[in-house]
Amino acid sequence: MENRISFDYSKTAGYISSDEVKIMSEIAQNARDYLLSRKGPGNDFLGWIDLPENYDKDEFERIQAAARKIRSDSDVLVVIGIGGSYLGARAANEFLGNNFYNVLSKEDRKGPQIFYCGNNLSSSYLTDLIGVIGDRDFSINVISKSGTTTEPAVAFRIFKELIEKKYGKKEAAKRIYCTTDRVKGALKTMAAEEGYETFVVPDDIGGRFSVLTAVGLLPIAASGADIVKLMEGAADERRRCLENAFDQNDAMQYAALRNILLRKGKEIEIFASYEPAVQYVGEWWKQLCGESEGKDGRGTFPASVTLTADLHSMGQFIQDGARTLFETVVEITDPGADVEIRREEADLDGLNYLAGKNMDFINKSAMNGTILAHTDGSAPNLKIAVPARDAYSLGQLFYFFEFAVAVSGYISGVNPFDQPGVESYKRNMFALLGKPGFEELTAALRKRL
Ligand code: PA5
Repeated sequence: MENRISFDYSKTAGYISSDEVKIMSEIAQNARDYLLSRKGPGNDFLGWIDLPENYDKDEFERIQAAARKIRSDSDVLVVIGIGGSYLGARAANEFLGNNFYNVLSKEDRKGPQIFYCGNNLSSSYLTDLIGVIGDRDFSINVISKSGTTTEPAVAFRIFKELIEKKYGKKEAAKRIYCTTDRVKGALKTMAAEEGYETFVVPDDIGGRFSVLTAVGLLPIAASGADIVKLMEGAADERRRCLENAFDQNDAMQYAALRNILLRKGKEIEIFASYEPAVQYVGEWWKQLCGESEGKDGRGTFPASVTLTADLHSMGQFIQDGARTLFETVVEITDPGADVEIRREEADLDGLNYLAGKNMDFINKSAMNGTILAHTDGSAPNLKIAVPARDAYSLGQLFYFFEFAVAVSGYISGVNPFDQPGVESYKRNMFALLGKPGFEELTAALRKRL
């Protein structure tokens, strides 16, 4: 089918033998069976597996209704969240939208400007954002599964004050949408107390696997994107992941190949795209891989580049630096727009040899030339071809990566669904901020500073 994403590992020939693929295909098959048996470590976080089929249809309707309201009554939507409660929505909105969405006129945009905060602790970032919103109408979608994460909690306190000052408490409550745990956490308590509309982050879905829940769906729908098609794409990819044999199963092949490469010393995987709109899918993918596999002293380090821009900064290293990396190119087959290079009489820039060609031909030539150069330079290449920057393709891509990373984590012998390492910095930060209960650690850390 033409509108399917597809995976190609032919550019690993010379690094990987068919025997290695055969052996790893057996291991991948076992890892998939183990995942689907729901008996492995982290098995209480497998709600994402069937989500594209069995998502809460009533909540889905409420998400669409909330998105319509935000689009009709708000010039700006402030999305507050971090990590898994942020990256998926931003990835989707940048992938699906106009490259310059936020600076289009209101008429062309047809939806609110969308800004993200609560993903850093920068005071200048917040100040500038408040300035940009000015006296325009806005709504807030605050997203936090735990409801206690410092960065979004701090940002929400500031924006809550702002929105209540502007509209009064009662009207403000109609403009605040909370996506959080079904029953517990400070945000859930506050939402119940203040009467905010709430959406649920299911118990059995971790942050980095939550993009197809309300966590991602509300901000994505608010941009005007087609979340029905997004779920359809994910559901179709789910069927392939769950049912197809290895030879027909792109996600399993990807999981297997990156593990073969890791075992051969390729410890860094670079997600490379040739469309700036794909950059945040790379950011989302980094969290998905990094938090799922980077534990117990193991894992492939996920990095990302946007090309051709980064060929002029990272290209030297990818081509010629320490040979510990491989590249996964995410190609957008049909860019959806094109620009033709015209002939110029004087040809002062010497570009007439491109006359009549279009930009995408140039971009794809750069991509194909670079893939061969990197492959020649011992940086093996994997390629995922995505038909277009549309919701159906993106739904497939999200599910493809989620499934592949889950299988890949089990192949490498870790629990892909926990993130124990994320807690260490939080404890130190709480201690240095003087949070009650951390007094002993505060004293110990201050001595070391
Ligand atoms: O994947 C994860 O678990 C994390 O990235 C979380 O999503 C992130 O820390 C935000 O957590 P919360 O949604 O509880 O605020």
